[in-house]
Amino acid sequence: MAGHSNYVPQSAAAKWLESRLPVISLVRGSFVDFPTPKNLNYWWTFGGILFFVLIAQILTGIVLVMHYTPNTLLAFGSVEHIMRDVNFGWLLRYLHSNGASMFFIAVYIHIFRGLYYGSYKAPREISWILGVIIFLIMMGTAFMGYVLPWGQMSFWGATVITNLFSAIPLVGESIVTWLWGGFAVDNPTLNRFFSLHYLLPFMIFGVVILHVWAFHTTGNNNPTGVQPKTKQDTLPFHPYYTVKDLFAIVVFMIFFCWFAFYLPNYLGHADNYIEANPLVTPAHIVPEWYFLPFYAILRAVPDKLGGVVLMFGAIAVLFILPWLDTSKVRSGKYRPLFKQFFWIFAVTCVALGYLGAMPAEGIYVTLSRIFTAYYFAHFLLVLPLLGFLEKPRPLPASISEAVLKGGSGMPAGATSAPETK
Ligand code: HEM
Repeated sequence: MAGHSNYVPQSAAAKWLESRLPVISLVRGSFVDFPTPKNLNYWWTFGGILFFVLIAQILTGIVLVMHYTPNTLLAFGSVEHIMRDVNFGWLLRYLHSNGASMFFIAVYIHIFRGLYYGSYKAPREISWILGVIIFLIMMGTAFMGYVLPWGQMSFWGATVITNLFSAIPLVGESIVTWLWGGFAVDNPTLNRFFSLHYLLPFMIFGVVILHVWAFHTTGNNNPTGVQPKTKQDTLPFHPYYTVKDLFAIVVFMIFFCWFAFYLPNYLGHADNYIEANPLVTPAHIVPEWYFLPFYAILRAVPDKLGGVVLMFGAIAVLFILPWLDTSKVRSGKYRPLFKQFFWIFAVTCVALGYLGAMPAEGIYVTLSRIFTAYYFAHFLLVLPLLGFLEKPRPLPASISEAVLKGGSGMPAGATSAPETK
């Protein structure tokens, strides 16, 4: 990550530190002098937004834990205590619960940015794969967090999802008993979910460091997909992108606060304000909105094991995406056919999300099957074939050429950063 720093320690103390632990040049090389393509648009600010939301989730979570009790007899009451008695407890809880949704909104935008501009393609495969790992850990964290308030949806959601593992032949039942720590979702389950819900965000933090390290080694992708060639193609990360990212974070915070203050329960489910009752099953058990597309895929298949395999397959296919897309051109901007299929894919994901919230019957099941088929066809058929069938538009010779043709030259007074690899 360092490599790019022009940092020369001045004071005796700075020289002393630099020769023992070069953290200052590491940070400067990564976030001050780092040569960044000068044409990054606002879709590139979502990585910074995600980092901000991750930190906010960890901080609000740590304070919530000071008042929360992970016991089936006390959990629901302790959350009500936070809402009513703890100073600003309502705010902490609403920031944390809506923060989870904001995290997924930002991550889905970040992923679709990567899909459109081909950020998963060589040489950024590792950044992408680490991203998919982050996404998986995020889903585990969110799922276990939702169980903690011990409402009806917490309990029944946990029951439905953990039971899926029983579909695995031979060892399925044993796995479920092992996950539960008993013979039903109960106190041991709540305790272990609490423990893991606290641990996993720190694992996400660790993988994020590797993620950033990986794309700092290859350099960022950019809207043209063309690698920077000269130092005219890049700008130092600070102040250009620190200020741009900060602006985007503030705008995103306004959106976040709008939910936290004005619609705090809009993205949740009313049944979770009823304490968990193993004897009463809710009429419709639905997961949080961000899981709905995967839930639709699960229910599209009449066979339980088949549904589980396809649901996990929907994420597994992302791991091999860099090798499925055969096109030589990286950015969707220069790929006329890909562009259309990209939007069909986006509509497919939204449709699956809608269908995941509908009852699994009649036309909803039929549509779920059609969209599930397209989801997989997109990765396994469309992307491999497009590389051979599509005639891409001519690429610009360089980022600078693309920027100048677009009518927006370098900002007045801008200095160029040293050349990237
Ligand atoms: C906590 C979650 C995450 C954080 C904090 C994070 C952070 C970042 C940051 C700061 C960047 C550089 C700026 C940008 O491109 O927006 C980035 C780039 C990237 N991210 Fe993530 N990311 C996360 C999750 C993911 C996920 C889930 C994926 C994909 C499944 C992903 C794929 C990528 C790729 C391929 C790049 C490099 C491409 C480029 O520069 O265009 N990230 N990430």
